[in-house]
Amino acid sequence: MKTILIPGGNSGIGRQAARTLLAEGNRVVIVGRDPRKGEAALASFGAAAERASFLAADLSTHDGVRDAAGRILDEHESLDALVHTTGVLTMQESRTADGLHPFFAVNYLSRYHLTQLLLPALRRSERPVVLMMTAAIPPTATDFARFPEYPAFNFSRDRKPVQLGNHHYAAHLTHTEPGLAAGVINAGAVKTDIMRSAPWYMRAGAKLLGPVLFDSVETAAHNVIEATRRDDWHSPLYWGKPGHFDQHTPIALDTTTTQRLMDTSRTLTDA
Ligand SMILES: NC(=O)c1ccc[n+]([C@@H]2O[C@H](COP(=O)([O-])OP(=O)(O)OC[C@H]3O[C@@H](n4cnc5c(N)ncnc54)[C@H](OP(=O)(O)O)[C@@H]3O)[C@@H](O)[C@H]2O)c1
Repeated sequence: MKTILIPGGNSGIGRQAARTLLAEGNRVVIVGRDPRKGEAALASFGAAAERASFLAADLSTHDGVRDAAGRILDEHESLDALVHTTGVLTMQESRTADGLHPFFAVNYLSRYHLTQLLLPALRRSERPVVLMMTAAIPPTATDFARFPEYPAFNFSRDRKPVQLGNHHYAAHLTHTEPGLAAGVINAGAVKTDIMRSAPWYMRAGAKLLGPVLFDSVETAAHNVIEATRRDDWHSPLYWGKPGHFDQHTPIALDTTTTQRLMDTSRTLTDA
């Protein structure tokens, strides 16, 4: 039985992954902001919910991440997998209490920060796994000049470098944590709560084209589930095609850039 932590597991793709991994006999902790969604998710797991728990946390701030990590470490000495499926799709200019854009804070920095704080528990597992879900962002070079402030946030320009931080972190973890497997997984396009803060034209497009073009939540969760349950892959990897675990790309990025991003992330979070 593995102990699997799924930030974002109270909703959408993370909840689907939680359901399947619980059905296979694992212990799962789901994390999200909304306690009602947390309780509803637990209720939807049926009898397997006795091996599940929900932790309410806002991971958009440094304090929120620290508080969540403290509570998780109090309850769990060892973690076998950490599956980051938290995400927001917010395009407006706004700032968290730490002065960061929420898209950067949630979709990249909270993953770095929470993982760093939970490394002591992950190191106690035989083969710890860290997975990070993004949009379709293949591991290629990009311009990180605006990292981490992203002043006057522009979604079309900034979405790629923000999310590519996850790939750099997966590479960093692979090279610094012996035995730990890390990867990034494309969610694809799926009808979930992610669209709630999207502009009207995106929501209208999704409503119109979703039934034809979107993946099912089961397909979107497939690679997460496989990467968590299997130990025959060697990180760092990027899975770009939902539902196709055997199709992946090695994450091979410029190591100087990785070092710079990790140094900045460490300075920001002190972790
Ligand atoms: N669905 C798509 O088409 C699509 C496309 C590209 C990328 N993705 C990525 O796929 C992943 C899964 O998303 P999804 O589609 O399953 O969407 P979802 O149903 O909206 O799930 C997102 C999860 O993130 C949590 N979350 C958001 N902000 C948070 C915060 N500040 N603190 C703690 N938790 C927070 C949400 O919790 P609450 O609901 O309680 O706030 C929810 O559990 C995300 O990383 C998303 O960016 C999805």
